[in-house]
Amino acid sequence: MSEAGAAPDPVHRQTPLHASDQPYDAHVLAQLDADAALIIARYPQRRSALLPLLHLVQSVDGFVTGRGVNWCAEKLELTAAEVSGVATFYTQYKRHPNGDYTVGVCTNTLCAIMGGDEIFERVSDHLGIGHDETTEDGKVTLERVECNAACDYAPVVMVNWEFFDNQTPQSATALVDDLRAGNEVTPTRGASRACAFKHTERVLAGFPDGLADEGVGAGPASLEGLKVAHQRGWTAPDPGADDDHGPEGADGAGEAER
Ligand code: FES
Repeated sequence: MSEAGAAPDPVHRQTPLHASDQPYDAHVLAQLDADAALIIARYPQRRSALLPLLHLVQSVDGFVTGRGVNWCAEKLELTAAEVSGVATFYTQYKRHPNGDYTVGVCTNTLCAIMGGDEIFERVSDHLGIGHDETTEDGKVTLERVECNAACDYAPVVMVNWEFFDNQTPQSATALVDDLRAGNEVTPTRGASRACAFKHTERVLAGFPDGLADEGVGAGPASLEGLKVAHQRGWTAPDPGADDDHGPEGADGAGEAER
């Protein structure tokens, strides 16, 4: 595997953002233009549509290509430099061909101490790739990811941004084996199955596939605080009340502040 500063790994397949590439086929361009018109119409200023348009480019090209940058610039009346500046800021925009499945192992603080670092190392060794690298079969791109606001299910692994909670090194390696074998995998919450990268990118561009909420919603760990609030009779503050104090707790702290 390669880390920052190490020699480039052949499977990294780094491609410059502005690599010259072939123009879009006419039918692909026509579909892109039609989709872009729908997206742009959702915003008061067309430049605000840049983030979803970059996802739309990835849904076609598998990463942010030079032709995709130029197309976004043309559609939104921006310069290619402005588009590139945004595309290189966010890690969800890929600068080289992505695998069918982005496997993101959360190695932020809580997940790390709950086993995220160990999971990343085990999966990395198992696949023979490091951070932001892709398996030679093009199936899996491995990433370290930041907190996914799912700390109550630590350690968490994401597959194209679908949650796989409470993972172990064993379950995570089995997960990537299933993905490479073409087996359907079921997230712990949310959608009923993890879809391929280009499919997911079209959803992120603003074209729902109807899968987002068909699976399990909030799990027991997320609802634990609500259960305690019910047991103790805590309620949310009245938004219309002229009071900037927090809700009164069972310890009477809210009363003591008055
Ligand atoms: S630290 Fe991993 S989800 Fe928050």
